[in-house]
Amino acid sequence: MNKITAAITCVNGYVPEYVLSNSELEKMVDTSDEWITSRTGIKERRLLKGEGLATSDMAVEAVNGLLKKRGITANDIELIIFATVTPDLIFPSSACILADKIGAKNAWGYDLAAACSGFLFALETGAKFIESGKYTKVLVVGGDKMSSIIDYTDRNTCIIFGDGLGCVLLEPNTEGFGVVDSVLKIDGNGRHYLHQKAGGSQKPPSHETVDAREHYVFQDGKTVFKFAVTGMADVSAQIMDRNNLTADDVTWLVPHQANLRIIDATAERMGVGKDKIMINIEKFGNTTNGTIPLLLWEWENKLKKGDNLVLSAFGGGFTWGSIYVKWAYNG
Ligand code: UT7
Repeated sequence: MNKITAAITCVNGYVPEYVLSNSELEKMVDTSDEWITSRTGIKERRLLKGEGLATSDMAVEAVNGLLKKRGITANDIELIIFATVTPDLIFPSSACILADKIGAKNAWGYDLAAACSGFLFALETGAKFIESGKYTKVLVVGGDKMSSIIDYTDRNTCIIFGDGLGCVLLEPNTEGFGVVDSVLKIDGNGRHYLHQKAGGSQKPPSHETVDAREHYVFQDGKTVFKFAVTGMADVSAQIMDRNNLTADDVTWLVPHQANLRIIDATAERMGVGKDKIMINIEKFGNTTNGTIPLLLWEWENKLKKGDNLVLSAFGGGFTWGSIYVKWAYNG
């Protein structure tokens, strides 16, 4: 029998309606549309508004749409891997909450935390379950309500992040389509440059941590930028090398949307032209775990069976990596 690979057979996404534009941010912090656009490529981002709405609520929208599109029910899902840094609760997992909300009675699942590389780590993990032969329908979800951990008085971070979420369905394939190869990495020394200071077991929540605004994202942007440019370009070049892919062979670069300058540097290193890069950072900003599945969702109609996709990301941890996917269907 032919080797089983994990094909992406459906994709969907969800972004909240509320638009936070650069001009609105100009009224909140000392910044300008010109600065944000030239330094990041971002014009606007979406925020999830509404009392009690959480990351899983965006997942319900995206996953219900995916099930409908694929013509299956929630009970067909066997495993849910939910990549997020903004789970609804510290515990139980957002995978549990999502399963309950969509009525997935036959699934087990868990959350996976790898910051901006989370969707790639979850995709690789989900693919292994499919390749084992035991599972036939694995749901990989990636997304964040970043507005729940962003300090809207800190111009270093509030201009970058937004809320959004995407999901893909993985199913077995015996023609070689789906996840072909991956290069994934972590370096915990990077934790000093991008983290949330309080709320974990190291520094539980207290009046002091709230007063010190330690429940928000802290980022030393310049340092993260330096590592991201090198890291993302390195793994992207490595995955091409390992799979004998030339720039001509790559149909699409699907890069994490953190900063347009990081995306450009990665594409340049790969030798891939601008017409082959999926970019929507101008509309959604950095949705952390949501960026890559949201790109796949937006570009789904243009994708063709056999297209070679290189998915690449860099994020807090540090975490980074690249996955080579052979697209399995005509969009
Ligand atoms: O997705 C997870 C991983 N994260 C990333 O990949 C993000 C990586 N980092 C970045 O994308 C960039 O570092 C930022 C967009 C966060 C910042 O851009 P930068 O070009 O690295 O700016 P900088 O921090 O070096 O600051 C340059 C100047 C500073 O002023 P001086 O010291 O030159 O006078 C900042 O104070 O820009 C100032 N500045 C701002 N000015 C207007 C910083 N933030 C802003 C702002 N508006 N929002």
